[in-house]
Amino acid sequence: MGQDERLLLGSTFGAAATAYADHRPDYARGAVRWALECAPGPRVLDLGAGTGKLTATLIALGAEVIAVEPDPAMLTELRRALPTVRALPGSAEAVPLPDASVDAVVAGNAMHWFDMNVAGAEIARVLEPGGILAGLWNVFDNRVDWVAGLERISGSAAIGPRDTFSSWRAETAEAHLPNSGSIAQFGSPEQAEFPHGQRRTADSLVATFGTKAGMLVVQEQEREATLGQIRAFLASRPETARGEFTLPMLTGVLRVGRL
Ligand SMILES: C[S@@+](CC[C@H](N)C(=O)[O-])C[C@H]1O[C@@H](n2cnc3c(N)ncnc32)[C@H](O)[C@@H]1O
Repeated sequence: MGQDERLLLGSTFGAAATAYADHRPDYARGAVRWALECAPGPRVLDLGAGTGKLTATLIALGAEVIAVEPDPAMLTELRRALPTVRALPGSAEAVPLPDASVDAVVAGNAMHWFDMNVAGAEIARVLEPGGILAGLWNVFDNRVDWVAGLERISGSAAIGPRDTFSSWRAETAEAHLPNSGSIAQFGSPEQAEFPHGQRRTADSLVATFGTKAGMLVVQEQEREATLGQIRAFLASRPETARGEFTLPMLTGVLRVGRL
């Protein structure tokens, strides 16, 4: 993805901030524990915190969390949901925190929006030596037959390669690296994934897809056509046609230590 496309797509979420808060999943606790297990202390920066989906899991696990988010509408939702959390406007390229002030930096479905040419040094600056940077991504478990079918009919604006079990590792393996020139700020990456799920109905799963960046930038007509295809597919499958079901997911984690 080019710089312009990344900037455009990464700034779309605020237009659907309330729907995002209502319909996006949280994160597998095992994944968050694994992300933080080597951190030298409890201070965690949730970068690109959005409406606070990952922030809430971090708090539940006892972390001392600061949330940073560039989009004012997303930040408003986060402050509404988690009024006691310290939540600041800012970005991965300009983090509003002092040097060596956190033990871990985590990013839930957000690291791919960062310009790591700039953000890599900025994240290293706010981390203690030995601190951890972790990217987390919720992905569809496309080993499950109906989920693989959903992937096939959805198109990449709704389910891209980064969004599935079979390809998230390859898609994110270098997410912590600058794409040109500068020196390495982090050690060797490790990746792992952890079972997760989200209770959905066909209608609420369609609403979840409506909050994807790719869906927020396409023309209304194309968006409605894709959501209509997804709706028809869900109505055609016994697993999803009626009532509530659990969407089979995993939370994938990429973690690296600050050098
Ligand atoms: C898919 S949302 C994820 C939000 C939240 N972390 C979650 O897990 O639900 C991506 C978030 O990254 C934010 N974002 C985009 N570009 C960013 C940047 N350069 N620095 C920090 N956050 C960014 C967006 O505003 C958005 O809130």
